[in-house]
Amino acid sequence: MNAPVKIDTDTMSKGPTPADLTITVRDERFNRGTSPNRWWAGDAFGTAWHNALSATFPRGEAFFIEAVKAHRDGADPQLAAEIRAFVKQEINHTREHIAFNRLAEDHGYDIKAIDKRVEQMLALTKDRPVIVNLAATMALEHYTAMMAAEFLANPKHFEKADPEVRAMWEWHAVEEIEHKGVAFDTYLHATKDWTKWRRWKLRSLMMLIVSFNFFRNRWTDTLELLAQDGIKSWKAKMGLLKYLLVTPGVVRRIFPAWLAYFRPNFHPWDHDDRELIGKYEGEFEAALLPAE
Ligand SMILES: [Fe+2]
Ligand SMILES: [Fe+2]
Repeated sequence: MNAPVKIDTDTMSKGPTPADLTITVRDERFNRGTSPNRWWAGDAFGTAWHNALSATFPRGEAFFIEAVKAHRDGADPQLAAEIRAFVKQEINHTREHIAFNRLAEDHGYDIKAIDKRVEQMLALTKDRPVIVNLAATMALEHYTAMMAAEFLANPKHFEKADPEVRAMWEWHAVEEIEHKGVAFDTYLHATKDWTKWRRWKLRSLMMLIVSFNFFRNRWTDTLELLAQDGIKSWKAKMGLLKYLLVTPGVVRRIFPAWLAYFRPNFHPWDHDDRELIGKYEGEFEAALLPAE
């Protein structure tokens, strides 16, 4: 395993991104063995939801990387360093989600249709202005940051999950929090000549479009995986709704953070949640210590 590369930002921060932010590339590997079929506490709904999410990550994160890299010219040294760390983190996430997706396939889930739909969706982005792709990335990075903070803050989400699967999602969540401002700051840099109104309009519009597509597609994907698990029709729909809105209710819980994105002066670091990273690091290091 490579030693983690630490990118320390300096004191040149001009925006709300913390001046002492550290983005650490943790080159970890998970899930090279086996996991239980319904790894999420033996529950079909939590398992299917996360398997569906994970199936979209390899292509999705590659798209994020390209969208951010396309706008890095002229970035100040701090932002340039953050972009480099962001790219390294997302490349590692992709590798680990490919391994995780292989586990799902080993359990008999067919995720090829999900991957195909993501591929078709991304093909539509090829002919549009690159700044639109960055705005979509920024919206999706807000989704990953919201869910990451929720996963780490509320142990209910992964408490009873398979430990190795949980470790992978926690690791991913920590790094999503660390780099949550990178696509946003890249957008601010790329649109520095725009009016505030124009910036806000594209950011907000893309959040609405991305949200509509995200929920429509993840809903379809998850129902497809549930059907493969023998859960169909209203039983699948009611169970999934309950999972997302009631217990543990990830969608209900992230709603205030979603709404905040539409504030004219919103920035991902308005809310500094780095204490969640510290908590993970503590637990992670404790797990690595030899037992007395
Ligand atoms: Fe990621
Ligand atoms: Fe990310």
